[in-house]
Amino acid sequence: MNLLGFCGSLRKNSYNRMLLNLVRASLPDNVDFQEIDWREVPPFDADLLAQGFPPLVSRIREQVRRADGVVIATPEYNFSIPGMLKNSIDWISRGDDQPFAHKPVAILSASTGQLGGARVQYDLRRAMLFMHADVLVKPEVFVGQAQQKFDARGACTDTMTRTFVKAQMDAFVAHVRKAKAALLPSASGG
Ligand code: FNR
Repeated sequence: MNLLGFCGSLRKNSYNRMLLNLVRASLPDNVDFQEIDWREVPPFDADLLAQGFPPLVSRIREQVRRADGVVIATPEYNFSIPGMLKNSIDWISRGDDQPFAHKPVAILSASTGQLGGARVQYDLRRAMLFMHADVLVKPEVFVGQAQQKFDARGACTDTMTRTFVKAQMDAFVAHVRKAKAALLPSASGG
C-alpha cells in the first residue's frame, strides 16, 4: 500500500508536518508513506492550463493518481483552507482524469488555537466532496494547542493525540484496503 501526505503548511517547524510524521510512525511497516512537495506549484491560472499542466503539477497529479490513499494534515487559516494548499488542490482537480475522484482521503489538522482546525476540516471536506473523493468520515483528529503537544524536536508528547492518530490510521488503512478490494475483478467473474 502506498500513501501520500500533504502538509497544508510550508513552515519549516510546522505542527502539521509533525502531525504527518506521527501519521507515518502510526502506519504499519508495509505501508509506504511519502510527503508531496508542492511548494513551487504556480498560482492557478486557466490560461496557463490551456498550454498544458506545468511539469510539477503533472508530477503531483500522477503521484495522487498512483497513490492508494492521501493523508492531508493542514492548519486552519482564517477559519478556512490555507490558500496555497487550496491552490494545489485546484490544479490537481482539473482535467477529465481527475485524480482525487474515488481516492481514499484522510484529513487531520493541528492549530495553536483551542479547536484544532475544526472549521478548515469541513471546508476541505466540502472541496473533496465536489471532486468525489472518498473521505474517511471517522475518527476525526483535531489537535488543538499544538504547541503543547509536540516537543522542540517535533516528537508528539501527548498520549491522547498519539492514540487518536493511531486509531485514525488503523481505520484509514482498512478503508483503503476496502477501496482496493472493490477495484479487483470478482472471483466469480460476475
Ligand atoms: C492562523 N492560525 C489560526 N488558527 C486557528 O485555529 N484558526 C484560524 O482561523 C487561524 N487563522 C490563521 C491565519 C493565518 C494566516 C495564520 C498564519 C495562522 C494559527 C495557526 O493555527 C498556527 O499558526 C499554526 O501553527 C499553523 O500551522 P503550522 O504552520 O504550525 O502547521
